[in-house]
Amino acid sequence: MLSKNLTEIGKEGNPAYECWLNYRPVEAPIAEAYKALCRFVHVSGSSPVLNSAASELALGLESILGILPEKGQGYDGITLTTAEKTDLLTPSEKDQILPEGFMIRHHPQGFVIAGKDDRGILYGVFAFLRLLQLKTAPEAMNRVENPANMLRMVNHWDNIDGSVERGYAGKSIYFRNNQFIMDVKRLRDYARLLASVGINAVVINNVNVHYHETLLIDRYLPDVVKVAEIFRLYGVTLYLSINYSSPIQLGGLDNADPLDPTVQAWWCEKARQIYQQIPDLGGFLVKADSENRPGPFTYGRNHADGANMLAKALEPFGGIVIWRCFVYNCRQDWRDRVTDRANAAYDNFMPLDGKFMDNVVLQIKNGPMDFQVREPVSPLFGGLRHTNQVLELQITQEYTGQQKHVCYLIPMWKEVLDFDTHADGSGSTVKKIVGGKLFPQKYCGVAAVSNIGDDMNWTGHILAQANLYGYGRLIWDTSIDSTALAEEWIRLTFGESQKVKQIITEILMNSWPAYENYTSPLGIGWMVNPNHHYGPSVDGYEYSAWGTYHRADRFGIGVDRTVQNGTGNAGRYYPENAQRYNSMENCPEELLLFFHHVSYDYRLKSGKTLIQHIYDTHFEGARQAEQFKAQWLELKGLIDEERFEHVLARLEIQVKDAAEWRDVVNSYFFRKTGIPDEKGRKIF
Ligand code: GCU
Repeated sequence: MLSKNLTEIGKEGNPAYECWLNYRPVEAPIAEAYKALCRFVHVSGSSPVLNSAASELALGLESILGILPEKGQGYDGITLTTAEKTDLLTPSEKDQILPEGFMIRHHPQGFVIAGKDDRGILYGVFAFLRLLQLKTAPEAMNRVENPANMLRMVNHWDNIDGSVERGYAGKSIYFRNNQFIMDVKRLRDYARLLASVGINAVVINNVNVHYHETLLIDRYLPDVVKVAEIFRLYGVTLYLSINYSSPIQLGGLDNADPLDPTVQAWWCEKARQIYQQIPDLGGFLVKADSENRPGPFTYGRNHADGANMLAKALEPFGGIVIWRCFVYNCRQDWRDRVTDRANAAYDNFMPLDGKFMDNVVLQIKNGPMDFQVREPVSPLFGGLRHTNQVLELQITQEYTGQQKHVCYLIPMWKEVLDFDTHADGSGSTVKKIVGGKLFPQKYCGVAAVSNIGDDMNWTGHILAQANLYGYGRLIWDTSIDSTALAEEWIRLTFGESQKVKQIITEILMNSWPAYENYTSPLGIGWMVNPNHHYGPSVDGYEYSAWGTYHRADRFGIGVDRTVQNGTGNAGRYYPENAQRYNSMENCPEELLLFFHHVSYDYRLKSGKTLIQHIYDTHFEGARQAEQFKAQWLELKGLIDEERFEHVLARLEIQVKDAAEWRDVVNSYFFRKTGIPDEKGRKIF
């Protein structure tokens, strides 16, 4: 009999913990058809990843079909193999499978799940089980899938004291009280969740690396080795965030100047020590000269000098440097209308295009500001033509409701991926760029800030599991439709009730628009309470040093970023986009206040004035939140009590806090303008 090996994987009996891997029986006739085809499993070869694939298959078949397959030899049953080793596929079929990709083929006696490599086989097994759970007919299993992105990464913002920066799901699963926790089961369950949606890389510590975290590449290295071992079982490569001034902090040097030979030698030796312990470490993630973190600017050097110095140290070991572009002046004077944070990353990095070593990758936030509910796409996408690039998204809901509010982010990310930069004519989308299909790049892909913590349901809000699931699935296959993805996640997570699927899909699909409605209007962003960023404070960041202004006065609101009169940000885009953004009439309305200072009586395409639009969307958003709760109440008895009550409690918070947003924002603008709501609703 095929053994599950890892006795501890899966089947907690706790669906909130098991997320979308909460395998459940499927009924006849699908079950009967599969039982006949899955009596044997033949695993060709052995490796940690392959063993995980085999164990997962055994667990899935037992839970979904109630069978314990025998170890197979020939073609009968399921064959797990690399493409090159099997004669069940033709040479031309094999050629279609690319690195980390897989093919599933149904044949009269069973199936072959063939990967280009072991990771591909593991992803193929997860796909097979997902499709089986979704009651796909055996003939419809046939497919070849190759990942759209090479690097498919999550970044944890976990601190070694156990806190998680912008974390809304409990504490760190890695650290507590300045030590590793080493909860092997939890880490393995997490690695499995990541692999199940195709994620292949993880950064375990915060980009803000303080003294204790620098010790990860020093005293705590033996613990990092153990964590890397666990992730390795599921084909997830480990990376570390490092502090740029480590040579000073750990090495006792008097500087961290990238052009200083002693500094260079220090990093080379450090890299050698690390790779001796973890030969397959992915490399370093670096936040330098950003929000008070050290970096090459201190020494009058630029970011190419800084990144290349580290890249040289990692190069002999195949490591890469992922260098963040989130570089801006966070000590701005709010009176200064010339400096524009939205220009900062572009202005810092464009002059360096082509100057980075080919094991450096720039990691660029989706927007030019900071993960707001609505932003344009960063003009660095398409701008940079000779540099490896990774798109950075934020799964954790820092500015989108902090996992108290439901906010399904896949539609937002799809808009980013589908954005046409016009860098090389029309169709030069972000997904082509980060997928390496427009400009040649040695490394590229997508990274996102994790939304998980040690809560038993992983993500704080159970509906936020859809964002982690959707993130992995979307960056594997960027053509997936948001609604289809929502439905898939709902069926895997909650089962097959039609009503459950329909209601939760509606809630998820309306959730980002609703959140946008009751928070900051038309792309202006912020309006949140300082520091923790939860809840409304219209002027919370208006007179601060962070470069985050809405410039509302009694006549109008918005930042003039036009080339003619403003900060010139609109001109950082290729002409097709620049022209749209520069003109108040042609600017996409959802971004109107990002690019223009607009008077309150300006008429939008709907015929409404700007002020009336602000009132209407805020009333509408708060109403939508109430509707989510009413819809959820219809699910009583259709999903387990625990998850039902959990989500209900969160929706109650959302209803209350959406009303707060509505009233604070509407009252602010009513008081500023004195213009009453046309519909005479209550404004305070
Ligand atoms: C935001 C966030 C910080 C984070 C930073 C970053 O500003 O609020 O907590 O450190 O982004 O991306 O580095």
